[in-house]
Amino acid sequence: MADTLTITDNRTGKHYEVPIQDGTIKATDLRQVKVTNDEFGMMTYDPAFMNTASCKSRITYIDGDNGVLLYRGYPIEQLAEQSDFLETAWLILFGELPSKAEYDKWAHQITMHTMLHTNIAKLMEGFRHDAHPMGMFISTVGALSTFYPDAKDIFSQESRRLQTIRLIAKVPSIAAYAFRHSIGRPFNQPDNELGYAGNFLSLLFRMTELRYKPNPVLERALEVLFILHADHEQNCSTSTMRAIGSSHADPYSALAGAAAALYGPLHGGANEAVLRMLHEIGSINNVPAFIKRVKSGEGRLMGFGHRVYKSYDPRAKIIKRMADLVFEVTGKNPLLEMALELERIALEDEYFVSRKLYPNVDFYSGLIYQAMGFPVDMFPVLFAIPRTAGWIAQWEEMLNDPDQKIARPRQIYLGASTRDYVPKDKRK
Ligand code: ACO
Repeated sequence: MADTLTITDNRTGKHYEVPIQDGTIKATDLRQVKVTNDEFGMMTYDPAFMNTASCKSRITYIDGDNGVLLYRGYPIEQLAEQSDFLETAWLILFGELPSKAEYDKWAHQITMHTMLHTNIAKLMEGFRHDAHPMGMFISTVGALSTFYPDAKDIFSQESRRLQTIRLIAKVPSIAAYAFRHSIGRPFNQPDNELGYAGNFLSLLFRMTELRYKPNPVLERALEVLFILHADHEQNCSTSTMRAIGSSHADPYSALAGAAAALYGPLHGGANEAVLRMLHEIGSINNVPAFIKRVKSGEGRLMGFGHRVYKSYDPRAKIIKRMADLVFEVTGKNPLLEMALELERIALEDEYFVSRKLYPNVDFYSGLIYQAMGFPVDMFPVLFAIPRTAGWIAQWEEMLNDPDQKIARPRQIYLGASTRDYVPKDKRK
């Protein structure tokens, strides 16, 4: 017998059998639960999607209780150790690790699409000198939609593949342009001899030298950070990508929306918030008082807690280890000691332990980015670059999923019932 859930409606005494598949019931199956035939039927109320699966996915698996993160079945630790970003991006997008020939072709295609149209550069020059790089990033990615109108052909696999290559290739260039603009330096052109992270470092930091030579430790650290941030299943920005894409908007417009969702301090802005918090605490001696304030509800310990992970975020573990390698090159970030002390106290404290609040990916990533020379404003942009691979993979999966339709939640209406319009001069 198939698995079913029996629901008894005490209002009517009726029983309903609802099929269970993959450990879930279909919310629409509840619509048969009604008192009278002309009723809409039972809905579920789930603000913030705390307990609602909005799709079936084969891309990323998270076991939040045990700190497990897999891309297409491969543990994040193995990818961080052995893969590079472009290979991981391919894996996320196409489901398997590429063959050597596939990888070489992919890397070549990405390299050949890193340049930006000169009008994109002009558009970016139009931003105020103090524009936030994430604001520039979001707007410019959205503007790409006007440069590539062929992207509207979302049901052509060929067109989708081309936009995928363009997006993955161009997001580092846009990010670097935003950074260069904010510090008043001319834009650098891509260096096709360098890898994905190496070229990005060159776009960011090359000055007058003919060829920029990235430090191999920092280049590898950036590749690893990119791998760790490439996808994270149905988070806020990915759900936004899917929701915008569900209206059949082109991928540039959808990705600009996803990046906008990433901008918020509870999502991609969290590592920036971690650094601001550490600056505010100011000294290791102030850590206990700060923890006390957090426990009394005055603000949050940024970089701690996660909707899904109720144990140590596996990405945070990898980043914490990598921080030591980076600091050997850059010198220690003076905020590190404070961060370690915060973590030590929080992990022993009943408040954090009972709520299963552990460091998340953002707790240490900001310290590394800062040591590498990035201003805090660039942090969400650094997140958006690799997440582009995940966003596109999830968008593609959504488009090819026959179960999906335009995203359109329901509401519980609690406002006024029908009433008659009153002209201005008759209102009280
Ligand atoms: N500091 C202190 N208390 C916290 C924290 C925190 N960082 N996070 C959660 N709590 C407390 C809440 O006050 C709540 O306590 P209560 O039950 O006494 O009211 C309890 O833990 C549960 O918190 P929720 O807000 O229900 O958890 P939710 O799953 O909605 O939030 C979130 C997850 C947004 C990540 C939250 O933990 C947070 O704000 N963390 C700080 C911001 C941050 O680091 N964001 C990065 C997330 S990772 C990413 O986007 C890449």
